[in-house]
Amino acid sequence: MKALVLAGGSGTRLRPITHTSAKQLVPVANKPVLFYGLEAIAEAGIRELGLVVGDTHAEIEAAVGDGSAFGLQVTYLRQEAPLGLAHGVLIARDFLGDDDFVMYLGDNFIVGGISGLVDRFVRERPTAQIMLTKVGDPRQFGVAELDAAGRVVGLEEKPVRPKSDLALVGVYLFSQAIHAAVAELKPSWRGELEITDAIQWLIEANLRVESSVISGYWKDTGNVTDMLEVNRLVLESLDRRVSGLVDQASELIGRVVVEPGAVVERSRVVGPVIIGPGARVQDSYVGPFTSIGADCAVVRSEIEYSIVLPRASIQGVGRIESSLIGHDVEVTPAPDTPKAHRLVLGDHSKVQISS
Ligand code: DAU
Repeated sequence: MKALVLAGGSGTRLRPITHTSAKQLVPVANKPVLFYGLEAIAEAGIRELGLVVGDTHAEIEAAVGDGSAFGLQVTYLRQEAPLGLAHGVLIARDFLGDDDFVMYLGDNFIVGGISGLVDRFVRERPTAQIMLTKVGDPRQFGVAELDAAGRVVGLEEKPVRPKSDLALVGVYLFSQAIHAAVAELKPSWRGELEITDAIQWLIEANLRVESSVISGYWKDTGNVTDMLEVNRLVLESLDRRVSGLVDQASELIGRVVVEPGAVVERSRVVGPVIIGPGARVQDSYVGPFTSIGADCAVVRSEIEYSIVLPRASIQGVGRIESSLIGHDVEVTPAPDTPKAHRLVLGDHSKVQISS
């Protein structure tokens, strides 16, 4: 069994954080979301991985390297444009050969790994196996229609009128029959070769497509609320580890990770919290479910239930909550007079100001 991970795409759908970087590298508990997928693949016993990359290939290659850090052997597959998930399968044809494979979308996050799914596929040997999950707004996903016996009878990509609330999760298991389906595809209304259409083709050819319904799934939709929630979920399972420097005047409560090179001075940190390597927390309060990225500074401030990306600096501001703060951002207090907010915000930023 091989793995095919899709980490290309234009990166414009999760904004503003991905204006400048690959969406698969957005951190959850200070680790790129893509890495959780790679770990799940390695844990399922798979070694050979094809990684589909696009415009952001340099950044992804710098982060993943040859895959040996994950116990994987990575072959990079360059996609010249984001022409669809099934197009990813098309360009991976030589790499995949006639092997079974798991296809994993690099921006998806699945709690509990994929070993159980891979085992089931190997045991039951269907043509394809998909995962479904209940979602609030199915129109943003591929949507499955099941019959009374729970069999998948139809799939539709981003339907205007969804036939169920069961969305396709971005992890699929395929036998080599998928290549015949992909070869038949025409671009959809959005100009992409849809993997959803390829699976529909298998269903119509009376080939066996199995499904299972899971919970514990997250997919970025540009929705900060969801990102904070998945960050909370991952931080929940953190074990306390203090490798950085914490002075006597500071108090760490509960599951707190202080990475090497981080400094905590005269501060109170209530876990679960992760403080990245080289970060500086001084005269501050860091509250539960917060990830502070590498080389950040949090000084004379309070922050809770938030994600702060590397090198951001928060100095002398009151309390920040439920926030996502990007790379290299600076948050500072305004002078007392005149009473005005002075803002330099990137395109598509969202700010709530309490006056
Ligand atoms: O996340 C689950 C959903 O993923 C499914 O419910 C849908 O059926 C499926 O089509 C897909 O929907 P999206 O339109 O949200 O996929 P997105 O464009 O976000 O791409 C998913 C990943 O694949 C992402 O890491 C980027 C990568 N990708 C995407 C395209 C279109 C590629 O590498 N190449 C591509 O051509």
